[in-house]
Amino acid sequence: MKVSVIGCGYLGAVHAAALASLGHEVIGMDLDEAKVDALASGNPPFYEPGLSELLLKGQDRGSLEFTTEVTRVASSILHFVCVGTPQKPGELAADVTYVNEAVESLLPYLTSTSVVVGKSTVPVGTAERLAGVISGTGASMVWNPEFLREGHAVEDTVHPNRLVYGVAEGEAGQEAATRLDEVYASMLAEDTPRIITDYATAELVKTAANSFLATKISFINAMAELCEASGADVTQLADAIGLDDRIGRKFLNAGLGFGGGCLPKDIRAFMARAGELGADQAVTFLKEIDSINMRRRVRMVDIARDALNGSFIGKKITVLGAAFKPNSDDVRDSPALAVARLIATQGGVVTVTDPQAIGNASTAFPELNYVTDTTEALTGADAVLLLTEWHEYRDLDPHVTAESVNGKVLVDGRNVLTPQLWRAAGWTYRALGRP
Ligand code: UDX
Repeated sequence: MKVSVIGCGYLGAVHAAALASLGHEVIGMDLDEAKVDALASGNPPFYEPGLSELLLKGQDRGSLEFTTEVTRVASSILHFVCVGTPQKPGELAADVTYVNEAVESLLPYLTSTSVVVGKSTVPVGTAERLAGVISGTGASMVWNPEFLREGHAVEDTVHPNRLVYGVAEGEAGQEAATRLDEVYASMLAEDTPRIITDYATAELVKTAANSFLATKISFINAMAELCEASGADVTQLADAIGLDDRIGRKFLNAGLGFGGGCLPKDIRAFMARAGELGADQAVTFLKEIDSINMRRRVRMVDIARDALNGSFIGKKITVLGAAFKPNSDDVRDSPALAVARLIATQGGVVTVTDPQAIGNASTAFPELNYVTDTTEALTGADAVLLLTEWHEYRDLDPHVTAESVNGKVLVDGRNVLTPQLWRAAGWTYRALGRP
């Protein structure tokens, strides 16, 4: 099918490349010329395993093109809206300006056979309102939330664990769903569950899923606080409760908590929207989820300072990891960088290293010192803080690492190292939620 993808950021670029790989003819549209040029040359402006290959293959086959010209979407039947909905400056709410603008820019090209498919994460009520905006063209609106994780975005897009379509009532909604089924035929052939709902439910599915994930992480981090107070070990606690398959072990990794471009902003936007709807009490608990998450960063700094006998002043601190999670170069609301900056403001001489995110980190926070090579970053450190659990940091050998540093102090912010090994090699090993 001929489809367009409006907005070629993280979500849109992966969606466009994935749909082309499934045999569709895809036009990716973005107003940012630099982004379009980068995608057209197969060098996405962010790190995502497997994406570059898909971009090149799709363009070689002639089934994928990127453009800044909205007129190029004219021949497409389906238009996927994939623009960002960042947190509004100074507010909890999401900014839906880009979504509104994207839908308005499509208006001249919509006909009664067109389907506009919203994929951006939006406050509940947005799809209904935008369906009103396009109603004069006869086109249909579907809300089809996306659940991809950074670092697994290609796999999550091509083989999603579920498809959710929010459609209008009646025949028009059913027809639009049939159109979307054609685009996702390969996923449906793999028996991917598909749930058809009204607009509001589809929008809430996305926000509720991210709220649940955030809650799960903050739950185990709250238990980590109790473990710290009582001398218990949160990693064993998580293993033990996770064996109950009603609870499950996934997303129970205690540590520095969640960051990134989705979970923090989505739970805040959810609280703001619930307030507008007069249902704020229903999600007041998310404020506590956010607070627990933020407290972990402060606690990390406290543990590191304590391990250095009460002061960072004049001490060299090496931070392993800048990305908000491994296999990503995304530093939006990165817990690792939040900790690095806090320590720098308390007089520590902070060096940050990361396999992929140094470029983005140094643009966002140029005041910190960045080093690409891990051994160079470790040289002369008085304390080493493991804050993003990249494989190369999980695999560090305590004896080899000891040769580079000045003081054998390690704080494991993600609970991924084996304390006994590090202690046996003479290190002071500290962690969040374990003795
Ligand atoms: C998330 C959702 O998982 C995805 O479905 C949605 O579409 C977008 O938001 P993402 O932001 O890519 O995806 O990252 P995710 O893998 O969910 O991790 C989020 C944060 O939680 C990271 O900072 C990660 O380090 C942290 N995390 C995750 C934990 O602290 N503990 C865990 O057990 C799991």
